[in-house]
Amino acid sequence: MKNHKFYEGKVIWITGASSGIGEELAKVLSQWNTRLILSSRRREELERVKSSLGLKPGNVFVLPLDLNDPGSLEEKANEALKVFGKIDILINNGGISQRSLVMETSVATDRKIMEINYFSGVILTKTLLPSMIARGHGHIVAVSSVTGKFGFPLRSAYAASKHAMYGFYESVLAEYYDKGIRTTMVCPGRIQTNISMGALGPDGQAQNIMDHGQKYGMPVEKCARDIVNGVRKSKQDVYTGGKEVLLVFIKRFFPQLAYVIARKAKRV
Ligand SMILES: NC(=O)c1ccc[n+]([C@@H]2O[C@H](COP(=O)([O-])OP(=O)(O)OC[C@H]3O[C@@H](n4cnc5c(N)ncnc54)[C@H](OP(=O)(O)O)[C@@H]3O)[C@@H](O)[C@H]2O)c1
Repeated sequence: MKNHKFYEGKVIWITGASSGIGEELAKVLSQWNTRLILSSRRREELERVKSSLGLKPGNVFVLPLDLNDPGSLEEKANEALKVFGKIDILINNGGISQRSLVMETSVATDRKIMEINYFSGVILTKTLLPSMIARGHGHIVAVSSVTGKFGFPLRSAYAASKHAMYGFYESVLAEYYDKGIRTTMVCPGRIQTNISMGALGPDGQAQNIMDHGQKYGMPVEKCARDIVNGVRKSKQDVYTGGKEVLLVFIKRFFPQLAYVIARKAKRV
């Protein structure tokens, strides 16, 4: 990829950096003399990603955290802020999916998915915003989903959490644009990662199944490139994926058709 001056010297905090889209973002962003903070639960996987990057070890910091532990996240964000003295770009990417019908899904699972996919990013964002505003700039990237734009079978909690992200980050942009804050909403379709493996099934546990959609989805390298290019151009919305992304536009222009397609979608 071209040398993006935009990223030179920037401090970027990526959640969900131990695999998939987050790991690939770390790889791409490490090309441009960035300083990275990598977060997720699994320290050993974050260390693996760190050692795979071309950056000097002092320019990559591993900060394990649990997005399902709201009481710890303000402290984690303050810790992240101290590592390099600032955060230029926060990428709220860590998340889990779901494969269970509404009636099979316990409210505890609904809440867990909201906590990890939605509230965690709210806490990190609120903690970092004051320092970003004081410095006159900051960019928050939120990885939502095509199911942040329409409901889909087996994804009730997941779709709800991803819809909620749009409401929150679009409001952040509206309120703080004049203070130099930018947000980019990422709307991936099906991307080749392990997301379906960790998706919570009817028993609230990871289903450990590689879905057809992810197995044959868009390569994660292309998805990360789309995100990095979109952020550099300060795009408010980035769409990345295969033909499933078209459903977002079908919903916008032909909503009745989108509802029928969702109703008839294969239950996977
Ligand atoms: N792949 C797709 O088709 C697709 C489509 C639309 C949207 N997305 C979104 O893309 C984002 C990244 O997912 P991915 O596709 O790259 O899947 P992935 O490979 O499964 O990555 C998920 C990441 O989230 C982290 N994570 C999960 N639960 C966590 C928790 N409680 N605390 C901290 N970190 C946690 C995981 O790390 P640890 O296990 O180490 O904690 C991992 O690094 C997610 O928000 C997902 O919803 C993916």
